[in-house]
Amino acid sequence: MAIKHFLQFKDLTRDEFEYLFERTRWIKQQFKSYKQYWPLVDRTLVMIFEKASTRTRLSFEAGAQQLGGSAIYLNTRDSQLGRGEPVEDAAQVISRMSDLVMIRTFEQEIIERFAANSRVPVINGLTNEYHPCQILADIFTFIEHRGPIKGKTVAWIGDSNNVCNTWLQAAEVLDFNVHVSTPPGYEVEPERAGLYGTDHYEEFSDPMEATRDADLVTTDVWTSMGFEAENEERMRDFEHWQVDAEMMAVAKPDALFMHCLPAHRGEEVAAEVIDGPQSVVWDEAENRLHAQKALMEYLLLGKISND
Ligand code: CP
Ligand code: NVA
Repeated sequence: MAIKHFLQFKDLTRDEFEYLFERTRWIKQQFKSYKQYWPLVDRTLVMIFEKASTRTRLSFEAGAQQLGGSAIYLNTRDSQLGRGEPVEDAAQVISRMSDLVMIRTFEQEIIERFAANSRVPVINGLTNEYHPCQILADIFTFIEHRGPIKGKTVAWIGDSNNVCNTWLQAAEVLDFNVHVSTPPGYEVEPERAGLYGTDHYEEFSDPMEATRDADLVTTDVWTSMGFEAENEERMRDFEHWQVDAEMMAVAKPDALFMHCLPAHRGEEVAAEVIDGPQSVVWDEAENRLHAQKALMEYLLLGKISND
């Protein structure tokens, strides 16, 4: 059987996502009712971090252990990865000693080279271009609160970064729309976002217009990891792209607010929004755990039915 990787959102089909959302719901229920579920006994997840993380590390490590497996954490500083060992060699070795690998790194090309030399499935835990596990959890969160996402409108306000690119791919796979508003000079790059076309998103110069009648409003930091040198310039450029109460007021009355976190109150989001009644950011963060458990199980064991 060919190895299945999850390097970008479009690596899986709509059917596979529908299965994963159902499976996430079941796995979450088991967890919430303290039922032991150990499909990954004797399986080892290796997690490689070339950038900082709280949620991704915790959700993968706790997730693998809660499924009966184990997780090993490697970072650039304490491994040979930081001393120039070719990624292809690292992939050969790491994948002979483990069953599953999660990587957080810089260019998407790095994870692709790793996957091409890996004997086991590889999961993207964030690259400069994409963050597919985040959007898997975000869409599960939307479905939990509001039902199917097909045909809905998501407003993306801010930087057209890895999280934005992944929303755009997800819109193509799951058939919904994204209204994007970025400052001039930070617009979506369809090729970098890995899009098939331009018919699932629309760009707006005015963030209020992008937000109007949206079912979900979401944003992310103005400066992503790896782009710190641009921070000062970005603070100026993004000043008018803060999601605030006025902006939320033009979205649908039952619109949700999401943020992948970590957040900067007073920059990309006002405290009254992220801490307000429409915000589901804590459910969103928790769902990383449940959604990634479903993902790990699927990549290792295929479709399962316990119902
Ligand atoms: N949202 C997210 O991926 O958070 P971390 O950077 O803490 O992993
Ligand atoms: N866009 C952010 C997401 C952090 C989870 C970054 O890449 O830093």
